[in-house]
Amino acid sequence: MDFIGANILSVSQFERADIERVFEVADTMGPYARREKVTRVLEGAILGNMFLEPSTRTRLSFGAAFNLLGGTVRETVGISASAMAKGESLYDTARVLSGYSDVICMRHPQEGSVAEFAAASRVPVVNGGDGANEHPTQALLDLYTISKELRGHGRTLDDFRIAMIGDLRYGRTVHSLCKLLCLFGSVQVVLVSPPELAMPEAVVEQLRAAGHRVTVTDQLETSISGVDIVYSTRIQEERFASQEEANLYRGRFRLNREIFTRYAQPNTVIMHPLPRDSRAEASELDTDLDEHPSLAIFRQTDNGLLVRMALFALLLGVEDKVDRYSREVCWHSRRNPA
Ligand code: CP
Repeated sequence: MDFIGANILSVSQFERADIERVFEVADTMGPYARREKVTRVLEGAILGNMFLEPSTRTRLSFGAAFNLLGGTVRETVGISASAMAKGESLYDTARVLSGYSDVICMRHPQEGSVAEFAAASRVPVVNGGDGANEHPTQALLDLYTISKELRGHGRTLDDFRIAMIGDLRYGRTVHSLCKLLCLFGSVQVVLVSPPELAMPEAVVEQLRAAGHRVTVTDQLETSISGVDIVYSTRIQEERFASQEEANLYRGRFRLNREIFTRYAQPNTVIMHPLPRDSRAEASELDTDLDEHPSLAIFRQTDNGLLVRMALFALLLGVEDKVDRYSREVCWHSRRNPA
């Protein structure tokens, strides 16, 4: 695909070569993400961040990624703080915001809303999550993480096993990740959820049509015993009709040190798109795994910065100029090693 000026709305728009290009560029962003070097390659460019649903990682890492490339970020957070609360349409908002920005990242609670916004925008729009539909940049960073983690295990993206656990019905990150996996060779996918929160049938069909072996189950312990990656997810309580309904499923699949040690192979990689629900009644991924070397959740969030920097560089056509506009930093950080 031609990245320059493209909207990033769904993972369905990518070919395998596009994913590999994003990863190749992401691999070059390390010194900038770690603030060992600074680049001004996007000096003068403005990112419009429009987050109409809660977010920590996606909003801040989009913003940090743009800043790290030398650009400036302007934000609107929450519908109540935007003129949408006064009835302004997506069309008008897109026309206005795209006059102030060179690229826009948007999260919105309704499926398809970011695509509607993008149709009216005059600058590229990146989907930061639209309802239960898709979260394409999360899927890219997840796949980038899987690829890096598998390198040490003698596996590749064309030959590995993954268990996805939890709310697979409303979890947009697993929808996008499954669609991306269809671009790769032979993946065994175990889908672990209560039947009511099962992966949409259309996504399962896509996986099978791509030649992947798919198992659907509600058994956590047996599912994690023979996989390379365990990908846990939160119950998406904001998509349920009531808290009472969400409570029916909270805490159904708890991954903790005892279960992991007993059932999984020791080097099985543990992933989660975050946020995890750390309340005692939920706790789908227990904090007693926090120091476990297999826990990759914070490597995932760090990788998110690299992947989002790569996307901005590609969308604005500067991926080959980042180093030319760089210099060493002159300050010292007391960051502890990860
Ligand atoms: N993974 C993710 O989308 O996190 P945020 O909701 O914090 O952006």
